[in-house]
Amino acid sequence: MTNSSATKPLTVSFLQSPLQGKIKVPGDKSISHRALMFAALATGESHITGLLEGEDVMQTAQAMQALGAKPQRIAEGEWHVIGKGIGQLTEPEDVLNMGNSGTSARLLSGILASHGFLSIMTGDGSLRKRPMKRVTVPLSETGARFETREGGKLPMAIIGTAKAKPLEYCLPVASAQVKSAILLAGLNAHGITCVEEPVATRDHTENMLSHFGVEVHVENLPKGGKKISVKGPVTLTGKDIKVPGDPSSATFMLVAAAMIKGSDVCIENVGLNPLRTGAFEVLKWMGIDLQILNERIEGGEPVGDLVIKAGELKAVDVPPEHAPSMIDEYPILSVAAAFAHGKTIFRGLEELRVKESDRFTSIVEMLRGNGVQVDIDGDDLIIHGTAGNIPGGGLVATHMDHRLAMSASILGLVAQKPVKVDDITFIRTSFPNYFPLMNALGAKFDI
Ligand code: S3P
Repeated sequence: MTNSSATKPLTVSFLQSPLQGKIKVPGDKSISHRALMFAALATGESHITGLLEGEDVMQTAQAMQALGAKPQRIAEGEWHVIGKGIGQLTEPEDVLNMGNSGTSARLLSGILASHGFLSIMTGDGSLRKRPMKRVTVPLSETGARFETREGGKLPMAIIGTAKAKPLEYCLPVASAQVKSAILLAGLNAHGITCVEEPVATRDHTENMLSHFGVEVHVENLPKGGKKISVKGPVTLTGKDIKVPGDPSSATFMLVAAAMIKGSDVCIENVGLNPLRTGAFEVLKWMGIDLQILNERIEGGEPVGDLVIKAGELKAVDVPPEHAPSMIDEYPILSVAAAFAHGKTIFRGLEELRVKESDRFTSIVEMLRGNGVQVDIDGDDLIIHGTAGNIPGGGLVATHMDHRLAMSASILGLVAQKPVKVDDITFIRTSFPNYFPLMNALGAKFDI
């Protein structure tokens, strides 16, 4: 998929009326990437429903096709994939363009490390700034070679090896992408690949590998965190995969509904993996009435329906160990904090600096530019709540970051003066129907 370079600004004004109704958000981005990758690595055929058809996931689909698998769209969110089998992917003829998608780039690096051919990988202006050493350094120990631009950035060449050595690695940063890259390289290595994570991160890779028939050992460590191992080479067998709604996407609607007076919203079929739902807990800590109904297991992941009602938001102090379970939700939770009563502290946000934008700085600029007082203390963010009176009137620079763009649009709905968002186009990477869904709830975005 090509990235159009045309930007699209949006001005958002205060919304006088409540958000109401019942919606479904699109499929989980993390699970969708993995579904396509693992189906491509499986022998036989897989059938995926609920797949997110955002641009990031479509980059993964294209890459798997370029590597010889056959992902095919049958209907909206419904895909059929003919897999190649572990070690059987074939050398791509052209450069693999991962667009804006860090998950595609990091996870695929792991897969390509243990395939004996050359690949060249690049991405858009945002992805080319993001650190790849976190995967290339450990993956080089398999015997694969990575030639990156200076500083370990894309574009890079990957010279994979069919005789990959299994790795034993302790994650220096809490990153599900790095954990997954190492486990994926291990699928085609001879021996036990073992990753230790001091803080537990999202475990969709582990869950889905098990679903595809791979024996994955997970040991809970006494101090928290986990040790995960797989013995390669493995065989994955084609499966049916049902992708739940994305809790990260749902959080935008939840925060908007929590802040806009009189709102009452239901979001059906949302993924409730406890390693993803930190933001839901934080909203409850802030005093919001958020209920989970119809909890059930679907496709190996917990799902449920979320019902939220507007209420008074109070400040919270969120510890650093909570970050991995809500790492993508800080931009929108910062808007909630700015709207709340009192001083919110989000602690230990160093990883936010290496997301689609430097989100730490982008959040600070977004809020300060709209009259909210924000203090920085090392990697902690201190947001002085306005008790429902965010001044607004600013221009938000979104830096090719979808989550910043959505957060800024919601800031505009609750700010006193209109908020300008410089570019909303990147929302298509994770949430292509964001504006239609918000408008279905009554947001009145003028797009
Ligand atoms: C993801 C992991 C997280 C998250 C990203 C998706 C994944 O990144 O921010 O949006 O699917 O594994 P890190 O692993 O860098 O924390």
